[in-house]
Amino acid sequence: MKPHRMTIFAGMLGAALLLSGTPAPAQNTCITCHRELGGDLAAPVTAAELGDIHAARGLSCADCHGGDPTAEDAEVSMSPQRGFMGTPQPQEIPAFCGRCHSDPRFMRRFDPAIPTDQVEKFWTSHHGQALQQGDTRVATCVDCHDTHAILPSDNPKSWVWPVNVPATCHRCHGNADLMSAYNLPADVYDQYARGVHGHALLDENDTGAPACNDCHGNHSATPPGFESVAQVCRSCHPANSEMFMVSPHRPAFDALGLPECAACHDHHEILPPVDAWLGVEGEHSCGQCHSPGDPGYQASLAIHGWVDSLVTAMETAQDLVDQVERTGIETEEAHEALTVARNALLKSRTVIHTVREDSVEQSVEEGLAAAGTAFRLSLAALEDFRFRKFGLGFASIFITLLIVALWLKLRHMEKNKSR
Ligand code: HEC
Ligand code: HEC
Ligand code: HEC
Ligand code: HEC
Ligand code: HEC
Ligand code: HEC
Ligand code: HEC
Ligand code: HEC
Ligand code: HEC
Repeated sequence: MKPHRMTIFAGMLGAALLLSGTPAPAQNTCITCHRELGGDLAAPVTAAELGDIHAARGLSCADCHGGDPTAEDAEVSMSPQRGFMGTPQPQEIPAFCGRCHSDPRFMRRFDPAIPTDQVEKFWTSHHGQALQQGDTRVATCVDCHDTHAILPSDNPKSWVWPVNVPATCHRCHGNADLMSAYNLPADVYDQYARGVHGHALLDENDTGAPACNDCHGNHSATPPGFESVAQVCRSCHPANSEMFMVSPHRPAFDALGLPECAACHDHHEILPPVDAWLGVEGEHSCGQCHSPGDPGYQASLAIHGWVDSLVTAMETAQDLVDQVERTGIETEEAHEALTVARNALLKSRTVIHTVREDSVEQSVEEGLAAAGTAFRLSLAALEDFRFRKFGLGFASIFITLLIVALWLKLRHMEKNKSR
């Protein structure tokens, strides 16, 4: 009802302005009066001046709250008759913002590229569904975007700029009292920050790494195109995903309801993977689910063995290449072979997701062949070097002997002459 009244009012005001021909008032009484009031009542005015996108686009207090920004008198300016809606309750906020943000015709006038589905999606999220049930402790629009200093999402100071998102969620998800009421962990941020993604985003500023919303969605429960959060890893790690899809784990995990990647990697505290996980001991290892005698256990031992053999072969070849390098001999070909081996190792660590020994063996063997080439090339170079070094020593002895012989000969000749 209220928005409707507001629209009629705006129309009437527009018509009045057109008829009278007077320009829009220079003074916005909402702003002037609230600024003078100071304290909390002036805070929205100060906040808007921090770069609020609405203020920047010429939208002001009355565009959101309604009311008459030309009336000097508080009672008149903030009267329901002039469309004033007051402060919305949390449950009313989505529709309050949606009055514009769900209206494609209105939004197109400002930026045709801006989506107009936030409110619709919001109601499908965990937050939206809880809010609908009357729970006002969940996030509404203003908890993630601020209320009066809303910045565009591509502004690095915005609460929803990738690097700032984890802290935005942490304000509630790090509140132990609040989270315990829902049996939810309060250390999600810390777990995430310790993991590879948090490290990349928060410490390295790598915005290619996922922030909370890249997995959980901006406004809906999951990002577009995904049925569940557990599938989202696929979007950025397609090679691992393809390998997993053809592995015996896929049907087994589906049947057990295990998440496809997080069952082994965890979902927030994703640690840098190491070869030891291919073994049967310790956290994250195959041994956390497989025990002696079952085929998975056997596969794990074999796969671990293959990967280890490539690592050892590469280390041995690298040692020899280093030795050659110290002699000053050119080693480009051996280096190239080592690069091939290194790529085969990286590939093998992805291929392990098939958990098929033959696939891993094939990929490891490419690497073993290349490491072998690097080894042979370096050995040949070293032998060549030793030969030349040895050959050079031999030559210098020979030359010394020659000089001595010459000298003796000369002395002999001189003795003969003096005789
Ligand atoms: C983009 C829409 C929007 C604009 C523009 C806007 N407000 Fe608000 N305002 C809100 C919302 C939403 C709330 C409720 C926030 C909440 O419950 O956390 C609110 C709350 C308030 C409150 C209650 C106290 C508070 O801060 O929560 C006051 C006072 C207020 N606004 C004044 C103003 C004034 C003055 C202006 C112009 C300088 C203004 N607002 C511009 C959306 C807006
Ligand atoms: C002449 C001074 C004055 C003017 C003009 C004025 N306000 Fe207020 N406003 C106040 C005072 C004083 C309060 C706090 C007391 C109250 O709630 O009535 C207030 C409270 C509010 C609140 C929070 C309380 C509520 O009812 O939800 C909002 C929102 C608000 N004003 C918005 C506006 C908007 C929008 C305009 C312009 C259309 C406006 N004000 C114009 C003085 C003014
Ligand atoms: C009176 C209409 C109106 C209302 C009400 C409104 N907005 Fe906006 N909003 C706009 C317009 C217009 C833009 C600017 C679009 C542009 O040009 O980029 C905008 C921009 C934004 C942006 C930046 C989008 C971007 O580029 O990343 C956010 C975030 C936003 N609004 C959130 C809100 C929230 C939250 C509320 C409710 C508290 C709200 N808006 C209420 C009209 C409105
Ligand atoms: C749980 C946090 C959260 C809530 C709640 C939320 N937003 Fe957003 N919003 C985001 C994030 C994150 C982005 C995307 C930033 C980016 O583009 O990377 C975003 C983007 C936007 C944008 C820019 C256009 C777009 O869709 O990408 C607008 C406009 C917007 N939100 C409005 C709203 C409105 C209106 C509501 C309430 C119905 C709302 N948001 C609720 C987190 C939230
Ligand atoms: C204003 C506080 C608040 C903010 C900010 C907030 N949340 Fe929440 N969130 C909650 C509360 C409270 C719940 C519990 C709702 C319930 O289970 O009924 C919740 C639930 C969730 C859930 C569902 C958990 C589950 O499995 O039950 C996810 C996922 C979630 N939030 C993600 C986020 C993300 C991501 C952000 C930041 C973009 C965020 N939240 C910001 C308060 C917040
Ligand atoms: C790489 C993707 C990813 C990122 C990034 C991510 N999450 Fe999650 N999150 C998940 C998955 C997967 C689950 C498990 C969902 C399930 O089992 O249904 C989950 C579960 C949750 C839950 C439910 C409680 C739990 O731990 O199981 C909350 C709350 C949550 N995430 C909040 C966040 C917040 C806040 C951030 C940012 C600090 C974040 N998530 C970052 C993927 C992610
Ligand atoms: C938005 C893209 C994105 C999503 C979604 C994503 N990741 Fe990542 N992931 C990355 C990036 C970028 C890195 C590299 C970070 C770095 O610099 O180390 C990475 C690194 C990793 C690593 C470490 C790789 C290594 O060699 O050290 C693992 C393991 C990983 N992610 C697993 C997952 C899992 C499991 C999920 C789903 C729960 C997931 N990722 C979702 C982008 C993503
Ligand atoms: C059965 C357990 C298991 C599952 C399921 C699993 N991984 Fe892995 N993952 C591992 C192990 C073990 C390693 C370490 C390999 C190594 O370093 O030798 C690893 C390594 C990785 C790496 C780093 C190596 C590389 O390929 O760059 C990434 C990234 C990764 N996994 C992503 C994923 C994603 C995405 C999924 C889901 C599609 C997934 N993993 C499912 C066990 C698993
Ligand atoms: C989260 C638990 C889990 C982890 C960790 C895990 N697996 Fe499995 N794996 C299963 C389940 C469940 C099955 C299907 C039931 C079965 O055959 O044991 C399975 C089946 C297999 C099979 C097929 C066995 C057959 O019957 O043909 C192989 C091979 C296998 N896993 C290898 C591995 C390897 C290698 C690792 C470590 C990289 C690993 N698994 C880690 C749970 C796991």
